[in-house]
Amino acid sequence: MKIYIGCDHGAFEAKEEVAKYLKKFGEIIDYGPYTNERCDYPVFAEKVARSVSLAKNDQVKGVLLCGSGIGVSMVANRFRNIRAALCRSEDEVKLARGHNDANILCLGARISKVSDIIKMCDLFFSTGFDQGRHTDRIKIFDNWGEKA
Ligand code: RB5
Repeated sequence: MKIYIGCDHGAFEAKEEVAKYLKKFGEIIDYGPYTNERCDYPVFAEKVARSVSLAKNDQVKGVLLCGSGIGVSMVANRFRNIRAALCRSEDEVKLARGHNDANILCLGARISKVSDIIKMCDLFFSTGFDQGRHTDRIKIFDNWGEKA
């Protein structure tokens, strides 16, 4: 698995923890930021979303974090082939993978505790897509959005 990650200042510390933890699932490409200085979440969300979108490969996924998780999810979902899911609970992560084949997990470091963020990341990368009727639904919209 290749995992692109990015965040903003609101989630820098959580992103560092996530980047360390996710090494067990594969190669990590950390698009930053690399300090907790104030920055703009669209810059980092675009980089991650573009890379995942261009890959068109289910072995390439992303994790995006900001204060709420809302801003990064808005940016990521503008790109074709991106199914970014903002999750607050493990139940949502299971559904995002099983039903929506989410390829980017979005998290809010000012909303969720780091320990819960790690648990949600763990589940995201260890839960498969249920396919079947869910595949047909994804096919309806997967080509919508900006071509990366
Ligand atoms: C930054 O202060 C904050 O607005 C950002 O991290 C995020 O929550 C945006 O959606």
